[in-house]
Amino acid sequence: MELTIPADPAWPEAERRLLSDSLRQFQLGEGSDGCNLLRFARTFAARVGDADLPEAVAGLIAEEQRHSRWLGQVLRAHGEPLLGRHWVDGAFRRLRRTMGFGFEVAVLVSAEVVAVPYYTAVGRVTSLPSLRAICERVLQDEAFHLQFQAHNLSLVVRDRFGLRHALHRGLQMAIGAVVWQQHGRVLAAGGYTFASFCQECDRLLLEVQRRSYASRLQCRYDSASAS
Ligand SMILES: [Fe+2]
Ligand SMILES: [Fe+2]
Repeated sequence: MELTIPADPAWPEAERRLLSDSLRQFQLGEGSDGCNLLRFARTFAARVGDADLPEAVAGLIAEEQRHSRWLGQVLRAHGEPLLGRHWVDGAFRRLRRTMGFGFEVAVLVSAEVVAVPYYTAVGRVTSLPSLRAICERVLQDEAFHLQFQAHNLSLVVRDRFGLRHALHRGLQMAIGAVVWQQHGRVLAAGGYTFASFCQECDRLLLEVQRRSYASRLQCRYDSASAS
C-alpha cells in the first residue's frame, strides 16, 4: 500500500549531518532488484513443490523497493543525491548470491532484523514529519516481513540447504557489527548502545527462529494427521 508522505520544513543542519549518509545507504540497500532472490526462490519452490512462494517473494521485493522509493523521495526533496553503489551494499549482495535460497533467506532475515532498531532510532531522532511517517510505516511492514521470513526459514531449515540456528546467530552478530560500524551514530542518537542493539537483534532473531520452529512442527503435525 502506498504512503502519503507529509511535507517537511527545512532539515536542521545537525540532523542532516547525522542522518543523510546513513539514510542514503539504507535507500540503496532497500532498492535491490531482487533478481537473484527471485531466481533462487523459483528453483527452490520447484524442488519443494511450493507454487505460491515465488509470487510471495516478488511481493516482498516490491515492498522493499517501495521503502527505497520513499526514502529517495525525501532525500531528493532535501537536495541529497542518492547513492549509486556502496561497498556494504555490494558485500551484502555478493554474500547473498553465494549459496542459494537457504543462505539468501538467512542473510535477509538478519537484514530485516537490523532494520527494526535502525528505523526505530531514525523515527526517534528525526524532526521531519516525512521521515517519522516512513519509519512508522516501514516498522509495520518489517513486522510482517519477519513473519514471512520465519515461514521461509521453516522451509529452508527443513530442506538440506538450511542454515543451522547457531550459525545464523553468528551471521547475525557479524552483520550487526558491520551495521553498528556504519550506522552506530544514528543508533546511539536513537538511544541504543552497541550492547542493547545486539540484544534487540538477538531477541528478534530468536523470535523468528521460534516462529519458524512452530511452523515446522505444524507442518509435521499436518502431514502426520493426513497419513
Ligand atoms: Fe525494508
Ligand atoms: Fe523488510
